[in-house]
Amino acid sequence: FVPPSSGSKGGGTTAKDAAGNDIVATDYVATHQAGDRSLAQGLKGDPTYIVITDNQEIASYGLNAVCTHLGCVVPWNVAENKFMCPCHGSQYNSEGKVVRGPAPLSLALVHSDVVDGKVVFSNWEETDFRTNEDPWWT
Ligand code: FES
Repeated sequence: FVPPSSGSKGGGTTAKDAAGNDIVATDYVATHQAGDRSLAQGLKGDPTYIVITDNQEIASYGLNAVCTHLGCVVPWNVAENKFMCPCHGSQYNSEGKVVRGPAPLSLALVHSDVVDGKVVFSNWEETDFRTNEDPWWT
């Protein structure tokens, strides 16, 4: 038995901002526009995108920002509406599905939920909704 770490609930991990503070959902949506994809600290400390939907809500999924090629952190490019890796040119669509190599796989998904007012990430073990395949990251 491993007790949950501080700030987590139900096996999840509270998303943290760059300063290490828990991300409060209402504050976050008040300061991020629809369509925004910004990085938070996620599971195991991995840089993870919080997605703001067109309805100005926090999406039920987050995206692990680690490129599936060789592990660079992939920036979001607003103008191109894609994630574009600066290292070797891989591209992922707005949902993190790979659309150009050399990356072999889409960005890993996590669940993103609001729990007690905070954004909480947890493992995504279900089918990848972008590919209808089993998740490669579990
Ligand atoms: Fe992203 Fe190579 S690490 S394309």
